[in-house]
Formats: sequence, C-alpha cells, structure tokens
Amino acid sequence: GAVTCGIDIGGTKIAGAVVDGSGAILEEARVVSPATDPEAIEIAVAALVAELAARHPVAAVGVGAAGYVDAGRSTVLFAPNIAWRDEPLGSELARLTGLPVVVENDANAAAWGEFQYGAGRDVDDQLMVTVGTGVGGGVIAGGRLLRGGYGVAAEIGHLCVVPDGLQCGCGNRGCFEQYASGSALVRATREAATGSSLLARDLLDRAGGDSAAITGPLITEAAQDGDRFAIEQLRSLGQWLGHGIASLVAVLDPAVIVIGGGVSEAGDLLLDPIRETFTLALTGRGYRPQAEIRRALLGNHAGVIGAADLARP
Ligand code: BGC
Ligand code: NA
Ligand code: ZN
Repeated sequence: GAVTCGIDIGGTKIAGAVVDGSGAILEEARVVSPATDPEAIEIAVAALVAELAARHPVAAVGVGAAGYVDAGRSTVLFAPNIAWRDEPLGSELARLTGLPVVVENDANAAAWGEFQYGAGRDVDDQLMVTVGTGVGGGVIAGGRLLRGGYGVAAEIGHLCVVPDGLQCGCGNRGCFEQYASGSALVRATREAATGSSLLARDLLDRAGGDSAAITGPLITEAAQDGDRFAIEQLRSLGQWLGHGIASLVAVLDPAVIVIGGGVSEAGDLLLDPIRETFTLALTGRGYRPQAEIRRALLGNHAGVIGAADLARP
C-alpha cells in the first residue's frame, strides 16, 4: 500500500503523520489548532503536509475533522467546537497541497484506525468513544464504518442526557459531551476544587494554587500519583461515560467498545469506573453477552492512522 498522510484536527491541536500501508507511523508532527479561524486551520494543515511530504512520497491526505462531514467526505457541514460552517475543507486542502484529500469525522477516523490496526482488530462490530475537547463516536457495524444517510452518523456527543441541562456548543442543552468530555472533567474539577480547597490541596498545588490552571493532564497525573480528589473526578467522568455507553449498546450491540481521546491516557483510572457503571446500567445485564471495554491500542494516534488509511488509494 502507498504511503499517505493522516491529519487529525481537534479543538485544541492539529496532529499529522506519515503512515505506511501496514498502519505504521513513519514520521509525525503537531501544531496548536487555531480553532476559531477556518482559513488559519487550512494554512496550518497545508504547512504540516508540506513538511511531511518533503521527506516522504505521500500519495494522498486523509483528514479527521472534529465536526459533521458530508457524505462526499469533503465539506465540514458544522462543528460545535471549531468555527466550521459549510466549510469546503477538502477542496481547500487539495488546492493548497496539490494532493487528493479525503475528509472524515475525527472519531470515525479513530474508530477505523482501531478497527484496522488496534483494539478492535479481532471483531466486526465496534463502538469507539473519544473523550477529549468533545465526545466523539465512531461505529463499525459488520466490518463497515457507519456513515449514515448523510455522512453524519454517530454524533454521540450530542445525545441529550439531561433535558434542559448545560448549554452545548452545538446550540442544544444537556448534550452528553457537556458531562462526559475532557472539557467537562476540567470544568467540574475546577468547580469542585474552588468549593473544597482542602480536599483539592494536592491538585491545587500542582496548578500553582490557581483552580483555573487545572488541566486534564494535571488531573490524570495527580490521580496516577494516588491523589483521592483527582481519582474521584475521573470516577465521576467514568460514571457519565458508563451510563451513556450502556444506552448506546442498547442500540448498537457492539462486540467491543474502545475508549480513546486524550483523557483515555488515564487508563484504568477512567476505564474501571466506566466498566463498573456500564455493567450496572446495561439493559438485560446478566442475560446477554457483555461487550468488553478496551482502551485505544493506538492511543492518541488512532485518528491520524485511521485518516491516513481511509485516504489510501
Ligand atoms: C463533534 C464531533 C467530534 C467530537 C470529537 C463533537 O463535539 O460534534 O463531530 O467527533 O466532538 O472531536
Ligand atoms: Na463520528
Ligand atoms: Zn451538543
């Protein structure tokens, strides 16, 4: 298979990698995402591609984009956390790079990567949940990526889990990602730290005494060092995810659920609470095979590897 370039455009960063026909990364690069400026994103992506293509025979570019991608795999129709509205991302990038470009939803791309080369390699039915700036979903059903009638299937971050709940970037209220994303984790943790500074002392110390400086990686780091407060924050995030996943499994019946995105770096500190809640919440529990919940094997690289694979001619 040809060497292709995979790009992952998220709410906070843009990652790029050159990937060979066996799914191996030959070289990678990343830049901060100018998420509020579509043109700046395109220029940044084109520069990443140019840098990588100067050293590798890149045949095509696959882009995972954190938004609603049209059935033609080119235009981003809408994005809750990036300023894309009917953005012709694929054609702009093709023009700027001179290469064929395929655009796919970021979580769909990650799901495809895990299915081809990662945690879902042994099954035909897989649900991927990415936990980062938003909550992304990707569904592999019968060995195929589910894209829906218009390209925008599996937008699990916008399931309404709390009627009239928190305001979401998509315009609705109470969406799953307002409770179950990395951003939700950080917001809830900052609030809890402000309200109970004694319990949060260790975490606040790590943040230089300022609750507004608490980040996802800081929470994970503190939890891994055994800090009870940080562990509790990851646990309550895991509970939200476990409930949501149980509902999704009622619809999809996947063989495996793969958890990815930045927050999955917390490992079992996040996955164990997800598993516990999922087991308690699944309809028909005890009388049906229970899908296994696995951490993304490709880690943060699932998106770039999947996008590169989807673009392979
Ligand atoms: C977007 C999805 C995206 C997910 C993860 C959500 O807010 O609606 O398109 O896959 O975030 O980036
Ligand atoms: Na998706
Ligand atoms: Zn929403």
